[in-house]
Amino acid sequence: MILNVNIDHVATLRNARGTSEPDVLEAALISEAAGAKGIVCHLREDRRHIKDADVYNLKNNISTLLNFEMAMYDDIIALALDVVPHVVTIVPEGRQELTTEGGLDVIAVQHELITLCKKMHDKGINVSLFIEPDKTQVEIAKSVGADMVELHTGTYANLTEPSRQNGELIRINEATLFANSLGMRVAAGHGLNLDNTSAIAKIKKIDEISIGHSIISNSIKYGLEATVKKFISIIESN
Ligand code: PXP
Repeated sequence: MILNVNIDHVATLRNARGTSEPDVLEAALISEAAGAKGIVCHLREDRRHIKDADVYNLKNNISTLLNFEMAMYDDIIALALDVVPHVVTIVPEGRQELTTEGGLDVIAVQHELITLCKKMHDKGINVSLFIEPDKTQVEIAKSVGADMVELHTGTYANLTEPSRQNGELIRINEATLFANSLGMRVAAGHGLNLDNTSAIAKIKKIDEISIGHSIISNSIKYGLEATVKKFISIIESN
């Protein structure tokens, strides 16, 4: 199981002042040096954090894998086809939301996804779909041609009652095993932090964990390098 670091909120901070610091690429390189195996960025329709130039800069300069999160907007699809990241993760996007609020309903957009997967595959780009940990969603993800699923852990992360948390962990485990049985790679992410990542890391068949907000937040306290190492050590000790 590897850690991918989402560096969107380095850009959020940079944009707050409109200057060049903190530097998004530098944050990615520090994360890689600390052991992250992939860098994730989400180019939103409103460009509130990552900008188009950041995506090119990351692709051209990082040495691990670039996972480019995107919703299915025509201009962003065109940019992905031009940048050629290693993976695109397709997410739903709402203009008013503070962050991605849930998984993509792959059933509702399956025809668009078939076309998108073909376009990405023609360029050698793998496609991951950010979905709820639900077997039907996994099954349709496979049928539209996705290579990978990323299971939404936000519901698990927001629950406080242990029995309900446990129920959600069971759903994540079952969706992981099912995706695995269909030959798909599995990632998980959203809302993970220093306290709740351990239980996800125990689900050994998950290949990748994607964490953003908590890593950037804890960097204020521990520094980015030490924070990335803390998360890797949680993953490796489970
Ligand atoms: N995975 C996906 C698909 C996301 O959209 C996000 C948030 O950008 C994350 C993971 C990371 O979530 P968080 O910032 O809560 O760690």
